[in-house]
Amino acid sequence: MHCAAIMGAGLLLESCGSSMHMYKAQVNDKKIVVPLHEFPADKNMIVVRSKDMENDILLVKKDDHYNALYLQCTHEGVGLSATDKKIVCTAHGSVFDFDGNVLKEPALKPLKMFKTSVIDNSLIISLT
Ligand code: FES
Repeated sequence: MHCAAIMGAGLLLESCGSSMHMYKAQVNDKKIVVPLHEFPADKNMIVVRSKDMENDILLVKKDDHYNALYLQCTHEGVGLSATDKKIVCTAHGSVFDFDGNVLKEPALKPLKMFKTSVIDNSLIISLT
């Protein structure tokens, strides 16, 4: 049964019981700008998608910073999926935490993380 759905312009991703807000972005000058109000009140994560990138970025709000994790498996480069609790690769079963650390092999390297900064009410992700 197909249990994933993308709903309209609101872009709420649902996958088997978990849901993740998605923000569609453009890459300009190797940067992505995400308005901070895009974070839903009850979630500390959003998925950032751009046609200019092969895979999505998971943006995770931590206590005093944001993690911008590239959702590409470090095993063989397959795109990853995020749930409320972890990041998983359906190809061979690798699992990562929200700091990009490997929780389950075969992947051995942590996820690529992009630098972030907050300017006014926007989060800037630097893709360099
Ligand atoms: S590509 Fe992700 S575990 Fe192999």
